[in-house]
Amino acid sequence: MTATTYNKVKETLVQTPKTWLITGVAGFIGSNLLETLLLLDQKVVGLDNFATGFQHNLDEVKSLVSAEQWERFTFIKGDIRQLTDCSKACQGVDYVLHQAALGSVPRSIADPIATNETNISGFLNMLVAARDANVASFTYAASSSTYGDHPALPKVEDAIGNPLSPYAVTKYVNELYADVFSRTYGFKTIGLRYFNIFGKRQTPDGAYAAVIPKWTAAMIAGDEVFINGDGDTSRDFNFIENAVQANILAATATEQAKNQVYNVAVGGRTTLNTLFSALKEHLSANGVSYTQAPVYRDFRAGDVRHSQADISKIQNALSYDPQFDIVQGIEKAMPWYVTSINTVS
Ligand SMILES: NC(=O)c1ccc[n+]([C@@H]2O[C@H](COP(=O)([O-])OP(=O)(O)OC[C@H]3O[C@@H](n4cnc5c(N)ncnc54)[C@H](O)[C@@H]3O)[C@@H](O)[C@H]2O)c1
Repeated sequence: MTATTYNKVKETLVQTPKTWLITGVAGFIGSNLLETLLLLDQKVVGLDNFATGFQHNLDEVKSLVSAEQWERFTFIKGDIRQLTDCSKACQGVDYVLHQAALGSVPRSIADPIATNETNISGFLNMLVAARDANVASFTYAASSSTYGDHPALPKVEDAIGNPLSPYAVTKYVNELYADVFSRTYGFKTIGLRYFNIFGKRQTPDGAYAAVIPKWTAAMIAGDEVFINGDGDTSRDFNFIENAVQANILAATATEQAKNQVYNVAVGGRTTLNTLFSALKEHLSANGVSYTQAPVYRDFRAGDVRHSQADISKIQNALSYDPQFDIVQGIEKAMPWYVTSINTVS
């Protein structure tokens, strides 16, 4: 596959640079968006309060771009729960990529109020600030958790069930607010329902780490790897570069493609047992041998059993063309995990 539309969009951006706002810029997805946009000579404003993001993510991006490109980046340490911080960050911005949120289903079960404040009140602040600043587009991180208990596979955007966690409620409320802002103010947005994104700079640390960095770090350290449930739970794991592509296509989309939500995935389904074997194999190819068997334990509250996306809507409307399947993504990400995981831990 060639991702022709994406390549053309990138060429146009290089010729006519824009000003972008990335909220959550010090996080996993935000810092990867920052890296790509700076490499395309874009001007970028970043907003983050370091709740779950890190200065070392920004430092790593700085080391990967030229001094001139880094000069085009302005960082604002601020909080999306404060409307004034959102308004300041939106000044003079063309495209908003709103990524800031408190991720993780278990975190939201442990502290639903904190998740609600950032993910709903913070989201609403960003909508108001971006609307008032007359930005050209607003793309936000939605989530596959919105499918909740709907049994259909693969997941199609219109068929959602009941949310299974406070986190899922917040991400669904984002979509409701986004739709209401289109109806009441004519402010049209695009929501990207991410399905398990993985890749470099996704933290392996903390109780709420995602499965791929968590297991990879455990394997590198020679620790036990825990599988919640029987290992047959499945996910549509999606490599970060596909998600970056989706954001850039969404930000530059036509008006017709707006006021929509789109699945962002590859359309595959990998069980936790298969993931365990794949990580072990790719670590071995990178010189790390892991010989222990996984330890099975109870299913985790709030988790959906299977997740797989139908990606035809985003393929048709935005010409999304994911360039990496899970194996290609793991292959690309593994050298980073092996060299960086000990230093970032
Ligand atoms: N990673 C995934 O697989 C996945 C899946 C579905 C949805 N998402 C969504 O994508 C977005 C980015 O996720 P990520 O994986 O990069 O997580 P992350 O935790 O690495 O990044 C989130 C960033 O937002 C910042 N942030 C949190 N609260 C803030 C606040 N009040 N003000 C300003 N900044 C704040 C954090 O410090 C962090 O840098 C989130 O909205 C998340 O819910 C991610």
